[in-house]
Amino acid sequence: MDTLTIRRPDDWHLHLRDGAMLELVAPATARCFGRAIVMPNLVPPVTTVAAARAYRDRIRAAVGDQPFEPLMTAYLTDTIDPEEIARGFEEGVLRACKLYPAGATTNSDRGVSDVARIHPVLERMAAMGMPLLVHGEVVDAEVDIFDREKVFLERVLAPTLERFPDLKVVLEHITTADSVAFVEAGGDRLAATVTAHHLRIDRNDILVGGIKPHMYCLPVAKRRRHKEALRAAVATGSPKFFLGTDSAPHARPAKESACGCAGIYSAPVALESYAQTFDELGCLDRLEGFASLHGPAFYGLEPNAETITLERAPHRVPERIDPEGQDLTPFHAGEELTWRVVA
Ligand code: NCD
Ligand code: ZN
Repeated sequence: MDTLTIRRPDDWHLHLRDGAMLELVAPATARCFGRAIVMPNLVPPVTTVAAARAYRDRIRAAVGDQPFEPLMTAYLTDTIDPEEIARGFEEGVLRACKLYPAGATTNSDRGVSDVARIHPVLERMAAMGMPLLVHGEVVDAEVDIFDREKVFLERVLAPTLERFPDLKVVLEHITTADSVAFVEAGGDRLAATVTAHHLRIDRNDILVGGIKPHMYCLPVAKRRRHKEALRAAVATGSPKFFLGTDSAPHARPAKESACGCAGIYSAPVALESYAQTFDELGCLDRLEGFASLHGPAFYGLEPNAETITLERAPHRVPERIDPEGQDLTPFHAGEELTWRVVA
């Protein structure tokens, strides 16, 4: 098989930033994705309907004529007003809410300190059918960073799901065999996104032969066996797993630093990277479900009507993007990728 035509995919977890960075990175997603769930961790975070609407307008302006629809999310805080969330959902501006445990990742300081504080919001969301998107890591200093996702499942996610049996939940950017098993066991209202990079890197890629800041993201990549579990999960074709790149650009100096930022910028190569992974797994026929069908089904949306075509055409990924401006190092920098989006 040398060409592959699939329904236009969507990205169910994306960071677009703002200002000049938004101008640069939004087209990289819109080139092949029809819609994206846009993360609200701006500074200050997106916590109101008005802020989400204004951010949506800026994103639409940044993508220009490309047929791309940003799907907006609200950033949950300890004091967020359930009425504001409900109004945003009813007005079709807010599609989901994002739970960042306070301090878990980039721009999460205003996140939730204790899930009990947002129980009223979660109750409202469950009643409306509004999905909760979860950064699933505890922040407890006692817990090793490689165990933070697994501990979150036990301490936070399981009790929350039990308390709110109707709440739709997406466990974002899963990195462990534990999360795969948890999601598989969790019933239809629970799903997970899987990034392109967590399907390809493990912790050796970050730490062997020198520290590789461009491979550092949160949740951090784990042991190889966890990566293998993620690959096996997407290869099953289960509708509980779908595409979410977590493409998270940071300028090179902020990555290559004594205290480097977490985030991998994958948007320019994401679909090609997933295609390579599915090809290696011998299940390219399952890419369409993962990239274009399972996400819309979970969110209660129609798949995109248009299609896109990938071709087997090896090409080299640039080392740097916009070196004089935003200065980004993309995922797969300098490597050869097999698949290319042609139409
Ligand atoms: C994200 C970012 O930079 O905003 N970073 C990351 O490593 N994935 C935040 C997040 O999704 O955790
Ligand atoms: Zn993210």
